[in-house]
Formats: sequence, C-alpha cells, structure tokens
Amino acid sequence: MMESKLHISVLPQESIEGLNIKKDGIYIDCTLGEAGHSQMVLNLLDKNGKLISIDQDQNAIDFVYDKFSEVVKDPRWIIVRSNFSKLKAISNKEGIAGKVDGILMDLGLSSRQLEADERGFSYHNLDEELDMRMDDQLGVKAKDLLNALTEQELTKLLRKYGEERYASRIARSIKDNPTPISTVGELTSLVDRAVPAASRTQTQKHPSRRVFQALRIAVNDELNSLTAGIHDSVDILKPGGRLVIISFQSLEDRIVKNAFREFSSKGLGEEINRKPIIPSEEEIEENSRSHSAKLRIFELTAHNEIQKNSEEILH
Ligand SMILES: C[S@@+](CC[C@H](N)C(=O)[O-])C[C@H]1O[C@@H](n2cnc3c(N)ncnc32)[C@H](O)[C@@H]1O
Repeated sequence: MMESKLHISVLPQESIEGLNIKKDGIYIDCTLGEAGHSQMVLNLLDKNGKLISIDQDQNAIDFVYDKFSEVVKDPRWIIVRSNFSKLKAISNKEGIAGKVDGILMDLGLSSRQLEADERGFSYHNLDEELDMRMDDQLGVKAKDLLNALTEQELTKLLRKYGEERYASRIARSIKDNPTPISTVGELTSLVDRAVPAASRTQTQKHPSRRVFQALRIAVNDELNSLTAGIHDSVDILKPGGRLVIISFQSLEDRIVKNAFREFSSKGLGEEINRKPIIPSEEEIEENSRSHSAKLRIFELTAHNEIQKNSEEILH
C-alpha cells in the first residue's frame, strides 16, 4: 500500500458547530474515515456522552484502531462497520433510536482511500485495478460494470451519475474496445480519445472526472444510501437534534437540499442556514479536497410519529 497524506477534515469548525454539541449527548458520525470529525466530537463530550462512528470500509476502521489504539478503548466511543443506509437498525441495536442529539455525514472518500488504497478511485493512478468498492463485501467492481453493461446502459449510467456530456461517445468507445477494460489507465486513455479535443482545452478539469464519479456512485449505490441515511436520521434524532451533511458534488447536494425541504414542509423541523456553508478561501488553499464542499444543517423539531399522531388528532 502506498504512503498517503493524512486526511484533513473538511469544514471542521463549521460542522462541529452545526452539531451544537451537548457534552452529555449522543452523536453519530456516519462517515468515520480517519476519525478527524469523530475525535473532535469525542473531545467535546463528558463521561456521560456517547459517540457511534460508522464506516463501511474495513480498511478505514483498521486504520483508526491502529492510529488511535488508546482512544478506541474509550467506553464512550463505539465503532461500527456498516453502511449508514442502515442507520435505523444500528440505532435500534444500540438502544439510542429517538435519543440521538446529532448526526454527521461527511460524504465521499478519504484522502487515503483516494490515494493509497489501490482501489482505482483516482484517475491519476493509472496502474490500479478498477475496483472502486468502498466495502469489499460488495459483489460488483467498476471494471465488471464496464464489461457487463450494454452500450446503452453504460450511456445512461454516465449521464445519470456523471452528468457526462459525452456519455454516448465514451460508452461506445468502451464497448468497441477489443479487450475488456480492467485498469484505470485503460479507461482514462479511452476517455481521452472519446472526448473531443476542443472540449478538453476549454476546461481545466480532468476529462475522466465525471466518468469516475459515475462509476463510483453506481458501484457503491451512493445516492440511494444517502437518501436512506437521511430518512433514517429524522426517525432516530430527538427533538432539537441536528443532522449535518457535507456533500461534494451536485447530485448529492440536491438530495440533501430536497430532503430538508420535504422535512420542513412536513413540519418536522427546519434548515439552520438558508444557503449551504462553503469553505473559506484559506481552507481551500490548505486543503484542495474541500473546494466543492457544501454543508447543510437541519434541526428536528418534531418526530414523524408525533407528526402522524397530531395529524390523526386533527382529522
Ligand atoms: C470523507 S471520508 C470521512 C472523513 C472523516 N470525516 C474525517 O474527518 O476523517 C468518508 C468516509 O465515509 C465512508 N462512507 C462513505 N459512504 C458511506 C456509507 N454509505 N456508509 C458508511 N460509510 C460510508 C467512506 O468509506 C470514508 O471512509
């Protein structure tokens, strides 16, 4: 495994402030990663506080056990390997459903996953296998998708999850390739050839950026997990509890924004900031990974159940 830069937590102060931490509260960090945010939460809790940190990637959990070998013995901190789409089941198991003061989601990948895990997440690491599974128990790798889907299905996938303008050209060149594609370099050179040269000079962005985004979303079923995690969150938070989400691309942010609007219109609570919080220029300079981050905060005022009951009483 390659050496990686340590992951720098994005919008650290803003997200922790957003959680509005009570020192004896119960918190869930849905995206443990390298435990940057988790450590900040833990440091603000007293002996009665509790933090549950979730990650679907066993490598991330192993890394945290190794790096924080003493802290992980802290009885206030529970680390769970799971997808946060199962948030309600996790909280039922831990006996905290309806008692949670704050939930944090810092979506996407950690720097270590991107640069050092050799799973083909980065379009810069040309020799890596196109795997892209965050959870190695998932059955389908990115290269399997490329080879199993038809040209039409691939076009649809690149359009839907990558909003890729040249989806059909790229899909055609993938399917026309005489041998199956299995490495990052094989895919990026095909994309390079499929995307018109003029469009490449117009933008500073890497031509494979959207293709990699689309494949990663599909392999990990990221958008459905996010939707499920958000909906579970409002069921397990207690009134006054906060849901804080940092997203990194527009498809994710749209899901968060629409869900918060839906909850507000149902009278379940309200968004704390009218506009998403974004990183300062200084943060972007120090941590380029933060450049596309958007932070949204929702505060729950009533439970679905309470809502349902009051609707029944009113009718
Ligand atoms: C950006 S990193 C989190 C970094 C962390 N906040 C920190 O400060 O170190 C995102 C982490 O969430 C995990 N992850 C992403 N989607 C997930 C999901 N649906 N369920 C569980 N973990 C997920 C990834 O494996 C990754 O380790």
